[in-house]
Amino acid sequence: MPAPSNQPFCASSIIGTGSYMPEKILTNDDLSKIVETNDEWITSRTGIKERRIAADDQATSDLASEAARRAMTAAGVKPEDIQLIIVATVTPDMFFPSTACIVQKKIGAANAVCFDISAACSGFLYALQVARHFINTGNRTTALVIGAEKLSTLINWKDRNTCVLFGDGAGAVVIRRDDAGGMNAPGRVLSTVMGSDGNLTDLLKVPGGGSACPITPENADSRPNTIHMEGRETFKHAVTRMLEAAQQALEMAGLTAADVSLVIPHQANARIISAIADRLDLPIERVFMNLDKYGNTSAATIPVALDEANKAGRLKKGDVILLVAFGGGFTWASSVVRW
Ligand code: ACO
Repeated sequence: MPAPSNQPFCASSIIGTGSYMPEKILTNDDLSKIVETNDEWITSRTGIKERRIAADDQATSDLASEAARRAMTAAGVKPEDIQLIIVATVTPDMFFPSTACIVQKKIGAANAVCFDISAACSGFLYALQVARHFINTGNRTTALVIGAEKLSTLINWKDRNTCVLFGDGAGAVVIRRDDAGGMNAPGRVLSTVMGSDGNLTDLLKVPGGGSACPITPENADSRPNTIHMEGRETFKHAVTRMLEAAQQALEMAGLTAADVSLVIPHQANARIISAIADRLDLPIERVFMNLDKYGNTSAATIPVALDEANKAGRLKKGDVILLVAFGGGFTWASSVVRW
């Protein structure tokens, strides 16, 4: 096993991306057969056309493990090289052990220390920042950061306000200590900002199934273990916080929106994304969107989109990439990466 280094003040770079989306497609028309909705409403309000649904025998760790394998292949690293695995998820396989430990077993990363992070849709960027701290302080050299969700398990298929929005999927990156090349090194994470507002927990939550409200025969019918959301309020906070976070992350990196080649935002709603692009004065061509195909996959949206943008040749060496997210908690985060 490569010993974790104690060398302080290192820098971290993304050296590989990967993603895995389940095969089953659920279209807006399919949904209109199970709940009172239609393709026109969903498309005009959200931009979503379809989403992926994991198979009954696929757990979040299965999606995460496949994304992780693909990221490791892209990075040219072996499972035994991985020293840290962080899985961002709100749909862990079980309360414990962590999904990260289960991924460790499935991919054979015997030398890793593993844990999960719960920050809803901001989870991947929270996890990236935590992994970066491990690396930049010299504690670990190579990490897998994964965003993975099986949100279909948290959906009330009778609630048209929420069931049309979400889907399943997983994305991953390998990040590694890389002290050469300064701030222009490929894949270098230049800055990350994070924020939370616990006063607003009630606007977006899964209230039941935990210790505050265990599922009982009496409450099971009201489905407290599904997503409850105040859509309009969430929308407003998402725009404000994502914009602030993006501006702060750019400032921290010594850059402005004009330097950004591509924004990869959390994929919740095309109208949220357009509002942010507008306020940053960025043409929509410089904003990556794949929510039409996948809907909102919470912690998975950014690593999946990053991988798709990478594979599609949308990320050129030296490009400035702005990642920005918002989610339940509320939580928000933004990172600037030099590709
Ligand atoms: N099909 C048809 N009609 C619907 C549907 C549906 N699927 N869902 C709601 N409606 C109806 C409502 O019942 C309401 O009808 P009424 O006026 O007769 O009462 C009407 O449409 C308008 O409902 P609103 O909730 O006001 O619609 P809004 O324009 O706000 O859009 C939406 C709702 C899409 C949820 C929006 O508020 C939103 O995207 N919010 C952001 C929330 C989000 O993305 N959360 C994900 C997690 S956090 C994050 O990732 C950012």
